Amino acid sequence: MALRALTGIKPTGEPHVGNWLGAIKPALALAASYETFYFIADYHALNAVYDAEALRKHTFSIAATYLAFGLDPERSVFYRQSEIPEVFELAWILACFTGKGLMNRAHSYKDSIAKNTEAGKDPDFNINMGLYTYPILMAADILMFSANVVPVGADQKQHVEFARDIAERINHNYKAELFTLPEPRIEEQVKTIVGLDGRKMSKSYDNTIPLFLDEKPLQKRINQIVTNSQEPAEPKDPDQSHIFSLHRLLLSDAEAQALRTKYQAGGMGWGQAKKEYFESLNALLKAPREEYRRLMADPAGLQSILAKGRDRARATASEFLHRIRTTIGIR
Ligand code: TRP
Repeated sequence: MALRALTGIKPTGEPHVGNWLGAIKPALALAASYETFYFIADYHALNAVYDAEALRKHTFSIAATYLAFGLDPERSVFYRQSEIPEVFELAWILACFTGKGLMNRAHSYKDSIAKNTEAGKDPDFNINMGLYTYPILMAADILMFSANVVPVGADQKQHVEFARDIAERINHNYKAELFTLPEPRIEEQVKTIVGLDGRKMSKSYDNTIPLFLDEKPLQKRINQIVTNSQEPAEPKDPDQSHIFSLHRLLLSDAEAQALRTKYQAGGMGWGQAKKEYFESLNALLKAPREEYRRLMADPAGLQSILAKGRDRARATASEFLHRIRTTIGIR
């Protein structure tokens, strides 16, 4: 039987080039060799998104994004977390086996505490229980579907390790191989993708290249990539150029080497470099852009894709939950 890979996508805001190359593309590539589960972690987003319209919109937009980049909903199981009630029941069960101290050690929670303390505020200021117990719900997402491999960003590695710890603890208690122990899988290749200003591409720095802009605004955005003041004729150091850093992510090794040589030879102005990057990027985004727009214009169609995924996911989840309940003596 094929190993299972599962990942959750938090619906928070407009997807950009960094999300695509750093997360979406590597996650979707796993469908070739794993049985894959992808879901929209809408209840995870709730600990920060308190605007109903925004949450709804982001959920549809991220679902359409994955489909536009080739997620095949027949081959993969694709669903919304909130539509699988079994996951939330499992989250409670896991909570009963999770040390409070384990949650205290979560990096994201500790960061929030540290920020509050630094600002002279109460350490728990603005920290809701959704944030605190976030790793337990995430463990339920993973363990419910017996995932072997969980592709995540480096910041989520600890959460997958928590899921493993909790699973081991329960397996040990009932002397049963109930839960599969998941492995995190971190995409090392594209660790940090730079934004327009050379810092990590991130919404919070306002330096992103959104994926689904029209051609003109996309070109405009690319023109905002920060460069030095070298003249067009001068040879350029590709390793010092944010344009090159971004462009090479779209190229094969041989193509990247050819572009490198072009920068070094001189005669390649920044305007030309941006134009070439725009052309490469636009060629790759053209078809997904159209597909994204088509999907976003048809919310009922999108919902029906997610409903099929929900039914498949629930079939697995309800059967497994039955086994879990039997094992723990609830039933
Ligand atoms: N916490 C993940 C993030 O912020 C999203 C997520 C929720 C997830 N549940 C998951 C990822 C289960 C992998 C597996 O990106």
